[in-house]
Amino acid sequence: MDRVRNPYAPGAGSPPPELAGRENLVEDAKVIIGRIKAGRPTQGMILTGLRGVGKTVLLSEIRKIGEQEGFAVLLIEAHEGKKLAEMLVPPLRELLFSMNAAEKARTLAARGLRVLKSFVSSLSITIEGVTFGLGVDPETGTADSGDLEADLPRVFEIVGEAAKAADRPVLILLDEIQYLEPVEFSALIMAIHRVNQRQLPIALVAAGLPQTLALAGNSKSYAERLFRYPEVGALDDDAARRALREPARSEGADFTEQAIDRILEVTKRYPYFLQQWGYDSWNVAPRTPISAEDVDHATEHAIGELDQSFFKVRFDRCTPAEKRYMRALASLGPGTQRSGDVAESLGVKVTSLGPVRNSLIRKGMIYSPAHGDTAFTVPLFDEFMIRAMPELNAG
Ligand SMILES: Nc1ncnc2c1ncn2[C@@H]1O[C@H](COP(=O)(O)OP(=O)(O)O)[C@@H](O)[C@H]1O
Ligand SMILES: [Mg+2]
Repeated sequence: MDRVRNPYAPGAGSPPPELAGRENLVEDAKVIIGRIKAGRPTQGMILTGLRGVGKTVLLSEIRKIGEQEGFAVLLIEAHEGKKLAEMLVPPLRELLFSMNAAEKARTLAARGLRVLKSFVSSLSITIEGVTFGLGVDPETGTADSGDLEADLPRVFEIVGEAAKAADRPVLILLDEIQYLEPVEFSALIMAIHRVNQRQLPIALVAAGLPQTLALAGNSKSYAERLFRYPEVGALDDDAARRALREPARSEGADFTEQAIDRILEVTKRYPYFLQQWGYDSWNVAPRTPISAEDVDHATEHAIGELDQSFFKVRFDRCTPAEKRYMRALASLGPGTQRSGDVAESLGVKVTSLGPVRNSLIRKGMIYSPAHGDTAFTVPLFDEFMIRAMPELNAG
């Protein structure tokens, strides 16, 4: 059918034509935003889930709600090896400068800038493109101890005071939070704890891979009490059908019931795959309604596309030893596997695989659902690994 009018949106962070099955999570976010605005103590939210389940698009949706409610929204994406302070300082500085322009918060925003400057001066990093101008002297002795867990709460407190005075609540949206170092994670939690205690208007909604739960569990802060950790997963049957059907209908087309059944079966109702199959089925179908045969024709193309993009970008970041580990994990089948079984299929001791396994966890390729267990962070990655490396000991 007409490719120009294809409504589906496969791609990391691409807003779906129909955000299906996430009504409760959106509602929870609205409550957080409403409570922060009202100056009430609030439990934040850290969304966890595999790749491609729709965490990033949920954060985008929450961003819109925050903006409608008059929040200053800071959307930050963490990266492996990038410091939390490097990611936070530039948008905080910008925010304080903008508050500084408003009469009612001028004094507090100016103080915020001085404190931010002393915070930066205590870090052993330089932050690209961040200058404070000659008029801003650091406030020596505040937030500059060099201990992030002490300094970050101080910074947040002062930003929160300025935000309150400016009547401009702040919503921090942090994506890929699993890439934070443990000390950064706990400093961030402590910072949110501080502003929460003082009822200052700063909210945090974050998203990350399932390994985030281990980060929270090991954190010596109040991570478990201060936040909820809703799991974002595959859509339920009804939502998955809507995710496919509604966009087609809005373009005057439809699927047969069997076509939808077929897509749900191959995609296991994972959002990214639903978009990919919706997209390819639309393109190959000669006419509406899209049939099960159309879906079968589309499958080959959809898998080819995923192999070249969604799966491959992750695979290419791995060393040969890491690929061998993942191939062995894949040979055990989908879902959670015992780490000992991976070692056994490679014919080595489980302890000798520790470093490879850890680096795969750090890279966000695998995670440990429970002690001694290992699973892929990308749905259907086991099938991809077998296509990419047909031989177990190749690579
Ligand atoms: N609720 C949903 N309904 C339908 N499609 C969705 C939904 N959530 C996400 N998607 C689609 O899934 C893909 C992956 O979304 P993304 O937010 O990048 O996932 P994640 O951040 O969890 O890896 C995108 O193509 C997006 O359009
Ligand atoms: Mg994402």
